[in-house]
Amino acid sequence: MARRRQLYEGKAKILFEGPEPGTLVQYFKDDATAFNAQKKGTITGKGVLNNRISEFLMTKLAEINIPTHFIRRLNMREQLIKEVEIIPIEVVVRNIAAGSIAQRLGIPEGTRLPRSIVEYYYKNDALGDPMVAEEHITAFGWATPPDMDDIVHLTLRINDFLTGLFLGVGITLVDFKLEFGRLYENEEMRIVLADEISPDNCRLWDAKTNEKMDKDRFRRDLGKIEEAYQEVARRLGILPEAGSRDMKGPETMQ
Ligand code: TMP
Repeated sequence: MARRRQLYEGKAKILFEGPEPGTLVQYFKDDATAFNAQKKGTITGKGVLNNRISEFLMTKLAEINIPTHFIRRLNMREQLIKEVEIIPIEVVVRNIAAGSIAQRLGIPEGTRLPRSIVEYYYKNDALGDPMVAEEHITAFGWATPPDMDDIVHLTLRINDFLTGLFLGVGITLVDFKLEFGRLYENEEMRIVLADEISPDNCRLWDAKTNEKMDKDRFRRDLGKIEEAYQEVARRLGILPEAGSRDMKGPETMQ
């Protein structure tokens, strides 16, 4: 097969031209960055695990009628996705205080928030992804008010669903980041979930011990990074057993 044309290289993924019009191939790298790429490293096997974890979560979300860009996984590091126009906003949902909200508002990490809080950040590396309000998003035309209605509605449904899914395997969903895109199909535009959902862009804590099972292990030099990503995949039942190509179902925890 001819080498595919690379369209975009991000910090953790590469996008290639897809096999049919309107499709792309999303390749997951082992590269990890933090603090707007001031810290760089490699997490061996991360790309393979994130490809599987994101496939699993997007498939589960599609089953509850959340529209996503995901079509199917192609191989260990690649998935076929629908080409969308990415909305330049990072949507962060927080259930428990951690990271930047803990710092900014002086809330001890681990404090349950009075309700889930949705925040927006403008995707712009040169500016360090500044936090913005819906006012900025609609005034500057990054998204329209109806787009934002869809985004908030989808985000809250995704949070409810993923909170339950992770709790079922003994993991607390502390916070996570989503990206959305515009999908143009049959002369209609729909907002769909894009990018990835993985331990790179979620905070996942062991429900019993609060041990961190996500990219904070890399950000904060906590060690056992690969092990944490593997454990998330194992609990979701998506690590192939040694010597077997069969996938197990999710493991239920008390
Ligand atoms: P924060 O506490 O650093 O603002 O991060 C909130 C959540 O968003 C956390 O789960 C990590 C994720 N995140 C990203 O996916 N990309 C980013 O660039 C940042 C800053 C956070």
